[in-house]
Amino acid sequence: MSVERTALITGASAGLGAEFARQLAGQGMHLVLVARREGRLVSLAQELSAAHAIEATVIVADLSEASAPAALLAELRQRNLTIDVLINNAGSAGPDLLLDRDWAEHRAYVELMMTSAAALAHLLVPGMVERGFGRVLNVASMAGRLMRANDMTYGPAKAYLIALSEALASSVKGTGVNVMALCPGFTRTEFHSEPQMHALRDAIPEWLWYDAEVVVAEGLRALARGRVVYSSGWLYRLVDPLTQSVFSRFLLRSLRRG
Ligand SMILES: NC(=O)c1ccc[n+]([C@@H]2O[C@H](COP(=O)([O-])OP(=O)(O)OC[C@H]3O[C@@H](n4cnc5c(N)ncnc54)[C@H](OP(=O)(O)O)[C@@H]3O)[C@@H](O)[C@H]2O)c1
Repeated sequence: MSVERTALITGASAGLGAEFARQLAGQGMHLVLVARREGRLVSLAQELSAAHAIEATVIVADLSEASAPAALLAELRQRNLTIDVLINNAGSAGPDLLLDRDWAEHRAYVELMMTSAAALAHLLVPGMVERGFGRVLNVASMAGRLMRANDMTYGPAKAYLIALSEALASSVKGTGVNVMALCPGFTRTEFHSEPQMHALRDAIPEWLWYDAEVVVAEGLRALARGRVVYSSGWLYRLVDPLTQSVFSRFLLRSLRRG
């Protein structure tokens, strides 16, 4: 008899999050779909519960609000839902640390990109350890592997998620809980549809883009295998060791000085 599992996916109303929902529903997993746009979550929940005979629950939350993770946990308890798989995926491009002068916007962004992921791990991982099974996938980015000028919050926030995943994975080793940071490169989603992202999107050659289906399928396979940091797409896996090498970091630093 197969065990019934439930996955909570943040940022499930679009892009990679919606694709995680589709692929996990395809594996027979029940879902808790979290984001701000309720209409999208409800139609995805209806589509997937009908197609895969699973239960899909919608919880509307703005994860840039400090109170959101605790409210989410209260909602899960009220509905008697136990989470076996946590996909911390919600995210956006965010403000410019120097040019955008409203600090409240930056604080909310840090809350969304880092604090909410740590808070959900804090709230949900102890239960996974106690039950002897759990999966946590933090959607980071190749941007978290190599710091660049003018990227003062997005890349560093993703670097935090990678470091958090490594630390968490070490802490729960041998308990039946796998923790992984997934580092996608450029992926076709709604992420680059904001006007300020169009120039970047149009400058990136076609061969550097991957489809969300590929990124999610590779990510879920790597998570099941117990990988801790995983770059999706063979091209990015090829480049990743270079981004971590002392030599390439030195080279980039000297280029910046020049
Ligand atoms: N696309 C890429 O090239 C790429 C590359 C590397 C990493 N990533 C990462 O992948 C993750 C998913 O992005 P995507 O590419 O799938 O982008 P997307 O299509 O724009 O989806 C972003 C998701 O995050 C949710 N979200 C944004 N702000 C939120 C908030 N304050 N509270 C709750 N949910 C929020 C959105 O839902 P609502 O608007 O409904 O709230 C949406 O479901 C992000 O963490 C991103 O940094 C993307």
